[in-house]
Amino acid sequence: MNDLNALVMSAQTAFADAHTQADLENAKARFLGKTGLVTELMKGLATLSPVEKKVQGAAINLAKQAVELALGQRRQALADDELAYQLKAESLDVSLPGRLRPPGGLHPVSLTLERIEQIFDSMGFEVAQGPEIETDWYNFTALNTPQGHPARSMHDTFYVEGGCLLRTHTSPMQIRHAVSHVKRHQALLDAGQAMPEIRVIAPGRTYRVDSDATHSPMFHQCEGLWIGENISFKDLKVVFTDFCRTFFESADLVLRFRPSFFPFTEPSAEIDIQFPSGPLAGRWLEVAGSGQVHPQVVRNMGLDPERYMGFAFGMGPDRLTMLRYGVNDLRLFFDGDIRFLSQFR
Ligand code: PHE
Repeated sequence: MNDLNALVMSAQTAFADAHTQADLENAKARFLGKTGLVTELMKGLATLSPVEKKVQGAAINLAKQAVELALGQRRQALADDELAYQLKAESLDVSLPGRLRPPGGLHPVSLTLERIEQIFDSMGFEVAQGPEIETDWYNFTALNTPQGHPARSMHDTFYVEGGCLLRTHTSPMQIRHAVSHVKRHQALLDAGQAMPEIRVIAPGRTYRVDSDATHSPMFHQCEGLWIGENISFKDLKVVFTDFCRTFFESADLVLRFRPSFFPFTEPSAEIDIQFPSGPLAGRWLEVAGSGQVHPQVVRNMGLDPERYMGFAFGMGPDRLTMLRYGVNDLRLFFDGDIRFLSQFR
């Protein structure tokens, strides 16, 4: 009897010590398995006399039931623990404040580019995109700036293998766009008929070896080109004045076309603006280079300069953004500091 009590107690202890279902199954095998302690006792009954068998058998059965009960209880307890643990781990505190995703916004220079595109779109200009890695031909030679031309020295840039370079301005798009336009309308030209005008802007990234508060090795430009049979410097003045006044929402903005030199325009002018009021009032601020497209460039576009002419300009959207928002360091645009950028949302 005492042995059986001890057996039941040791089973209870073993079950209590099992902290996983697997441990518990191992403990169960030690008592109730095929060669388990309880099972061995049952086997031992075979050698006893019928009377002893009856008494011992009943006692062993009681012990077995007690072991099974302890096992069942421990199983339930482990299952309860597991459920409680799982509920706790996967609990959801619906009273916590939500995690907000702050609204994003466009980069200030992107805002400017969108604005430029909108304004020129309203004046009937297409928008064209071109490659940032250019050939020497499009970036320089076709723009009347052959090898050895002194104007090249102001456009020091990054060269890549194969003689290509990171474009120093968006002016190569003058040639690229005009050539494809001419190709599209070659039949008209061959028949001596008038070709639809070229009216395009080409915004994008440009590169020069330059770096200070107002120059960055990567910066933006937006080219403009209008070629037709009778497009003159007067049209440049009207279009660009209209653009600047709309862009800065200032009908009194004053423009100055200051004589300058570019190999691909003749005559050429630097365009300065002056605000009538505000912190920048009274100062001339340079915003673009411009001019009548040089006859040699018109020829490189595949057109007859005796018949076709027009103007081009190249402006700096970074500069326009600085002026519009009163930003004094160009580098802020390219640092990616969220505290700066979020002010333009
Ligand atoms: N590409 C010139 C520059 O980067 C600007 C320009 C464009 C001048 C078109 C005239 C005509 O300085």
